[in-house]
Amino acid sequence: MRESTGTGLILGIESSCDETAAAVVRGGSAALSNVVASQMSLHANYGGVVPELASREHLRNVVPVVREAMARAGVTFDELDAIAVTEGPGLAGALLVGITYAKALSFGLGKPLIGVNHLEGHIHAVLMEARQRAEAPIPLPLLALVVSGGHTHLYLARQSGEARWSYRNVGRTVDDAAGEAYDKVAKLLGLGYPGGPWIDALAARGNPRAVPFHFGQIKPRPHREGVSFPNKKAPAVTAGPAFNFSFSGIKTAVLRYVETHHMREGIEARRAALAADSTLKPSSEAVAALCDAETLDLIASFQYAVVGNLLRQTFAAAESFGARGIVVSGGVAAKFPSLALSTDNAAMIAAAAWPKFVAEEFADDDLGATPQLRLGQT
Ligand code: KG4
Ligand code: ZN
Repeated sequence: MRESTGTGLILGIESSCDETAAAVVRGGSAALSNVVASQMSLHANYGGVVPELASREHLRNVVPVVREAMARAGVTFDELDAIAVTEGPGLAGALLVGITYAKALSFGLGKPLIGVNHLEGHIHAVLMEARQRAEAPIPLPLLALVVSGGHTHLYLARQSGEARWSYRNVGRTVDDAAGEAYDKVAKLLGLGYPGGPWIDALAARGNPRAVPFHFGQIKPRPHREGVSFPNKKAPAVTAGPAFNFSFSGIKTAVLRYVETHHMREGIEARRAALAADSTLKPSSEAVAALCDAETLDLIASFQYAVVGNLLRQTFAAAESFGARGIVVSGGVAAKFPSLALSTDNAAMIAAAAWPKFVAEEFADDDLGATPQLRLGQT
């Protein structure tokens, strides 16, 4: 381990899903730039991310986005201490674009390359923002809820020594991610993609207690490791319970509500009205005007139930593991931290790379994309 002898500047690159992003962060805490090229409107036509289109867009965007991040930060490539890039989890082809470009930069500049887990990035987005605001450091160990379109995970995170972070995955969704449930329910109700922001905006206009959705209680259960091969021994039980989530049930419950309350016609009318809308992004007032009170109540009740479930599991896990701080991040957390740091970005990748830089945990030349990369031990 060593103190940085250089500038402390890390260029982060993120391309795991549908955002091409680059940022320059100093010392893991000060974001000098944070540039994101979103492909959202492209994929909106298909109601979800199309992997082939995503890779192609990353290829088109990665060079200008990195240049823009460098220009906005007002630094030159020579001043960088290292290049950090998301190595997973994510779409293989999308990840490869960022990784290949980061490797080329690292090789060409003779600067170290650091591979970062996207989920670790989401956690560090919150830590970085707390440092930027000069708030008191979040006490450790902390319990982190990472909640996005692709993930609903609980991690117990601690720091040993000054640099090394370690993580333990203490809960995850057994089916859909929370953001996925938001997106699917929004689609079912004839709202645009991605659905999270629409549901969030419309929920404020309905009664959250109108429809009592009940989550089948997923009880904390003993954590089991995967079956070991070739002996096929019984799975070992590891210490501590797992606080899992399930969001496919509430999606079905919303569908059932729509059917039993004969809401189909209204939904199709809304879908048609939004499809015919020529404005790039209609205002939430305009969309709310297309929803009757029953729909707004349904949306508010859905959000109330999902958020309640997320909070209950998070607090229960924090208590069970003796966590002293709680962190919430990922697109569904939007605004907490700020929106720019909640959704996918590269400042969080550069921030998460800082302790690795200090510990000289550098990537080899053969760094590849790991679409199913996990964070920490289970
Ligand atoms: O972290 P993110 O940008 O990408 C992934 O890594 O998945 O998260 C995107 C997800 C989408 O499912 C989107 O609908 C949801 O976050 N989302 C929201 C809000 N803004 C975005 N969900 C709830 N409320 C929001 N305000
Ligand atoms: Zn993400």
